Amino acid sequence: LSIQALGLRATAERHVQAAPPDAILGLTEAWKKDPNPLKVNLGVGIYKDDKGQTPVLPSVKTAEERLLATASTKTYMPIGGAPEYGKLVQALILGTDHPAIQENRIRTAQVPGGTGGLRVGADFLRKIRGGATVWVSRPTWANHKGIFEAAGFSVKEYAYYHAATRGLDEAGLLADLETIPAGDIVVLHVCCHNPSGVDLDAAQWEKVAAIAARKGWIPFLDFAYQGFGSGVEEDREGLLAMVRACPELLVSSSFSKNFGLYQERTGALSVIAANRAQADIAFSHIEIAIRVNYSNPPAHGGLIVTTILSDEVLTNQWLEELGAMRTRIAEVRRQFVLALKNQGIATDFSFINRQKGMFSFSGLSDEQVAFLREKKSIYIVKGGRISVAGITSQNIDYLCQSLAEVLNG
Ligand code: LMR
Repeated sequence: LSIQALGLRATAERHVQAAPPDAILGLTEAWKKDPNPLKVNLGVGIYKDDKGQTPVLPSVKTAEERLLATASTKTYMPIGGAPEYGKLVQALILGTDHPAIQENRIRTAQVPGGTGGLRVGADFLRKIRGGATVWVSRPTWANHKGIFEAAGFSVKEYAYYHAATRGLDEAGLLADLETIPAGDIVVLHVCCHNPSGVDLDAAQWEKVAAIAARKGWIPFLDFAYQGFGSGVEEDREGLLAMVRACPELLVSSSFSKNFGLYQERTGALSVIAANRAQADIAFSHIEIAIRVNYSNPPAHGGLIVTTILSDEVLTNQWLEELGAMRTRIAEVRRQFVLALKNQGIATDFSFINRQKGMFSFSGLSDEQVAFLREKKSIYIVKGGRISVAGITSQNIDYLCQSLAEVLNG
């Protein structure tokens, strides 16, 4: 008998149990296997058009055609990705003439998606702020805790969502942020809060930024949905407020949703420091975190974004395509609220129209979510998060009838 040191033997003495399926991506796998023709996937945050498709954006297609015609090499990228990509990301997330860009105190690495940005940022922070605690909103994206724990941090929650008002627990949030010590790390969603859809307004961001500046905790901004809330410029307001107040922060941004580049894993980790020299020091450690992890980033997605954002015509086309996605989601929210009302459901769902981005926090209990999955083949993330972008004219009636069954008893 050979030794199985991993302890994976399927016997009574087995030590290692199978891990549970992923809370979000695991749902898609289960949905794919479901034979029910009426099945609906409202789990993962992927934009769908009214036919339930996620086509390649035409601006992306054009960029890819150009790249195919001109590509001459597949050599390694620099560890931090292409410098021109970094510059374009900075201009997109902060605005072209932002002082942090002019003062040369921002550095950006191309990373594999928003998750890659969070993980590289977490590894970097763990190296220089090892004993710190990471704070995430209650609730937050299901993967946040896992990413920071995998990097070795302990993770705690600050108040955010107020279930009774289905809005922000402003008093709880501000009170909790006041208790976080200097040097701890606070993860904040810049827009389209995942999973609640509840964002801070400008005045609330100013309050959060003032606390961050006074207390000295490190903001780590997760910016995965720029352009899906109110617009590319409007959606960066919270980030700008934090940068005005805090000399140092990190931003993980993603092109999965706004360029539809999900499978290309195209994101960025930006670090803003007090001055140019400190930005260089920070970036040198970020490069090490990348090198020991995946060496250097995959190129294709970054080249697509670079091609589009360095061409005015293509940029305008992309902005229109992004605007069309945003408009459809807002329209689906309106139709959803109306259709729920038409089903005679007593609950007031008008809050869905106030939420921003792909997600809506439905208020469904875990039992109701389980019933919808088992009896109706409607897949919703545990906790009640609905990906509104998955609602189409084909599935909205079935969805709302099923919700009426659950909610009216
Ligand atoms: C989501 O929250 O559904 C997306 O961000 C996809 C993911 O990786 O979980």
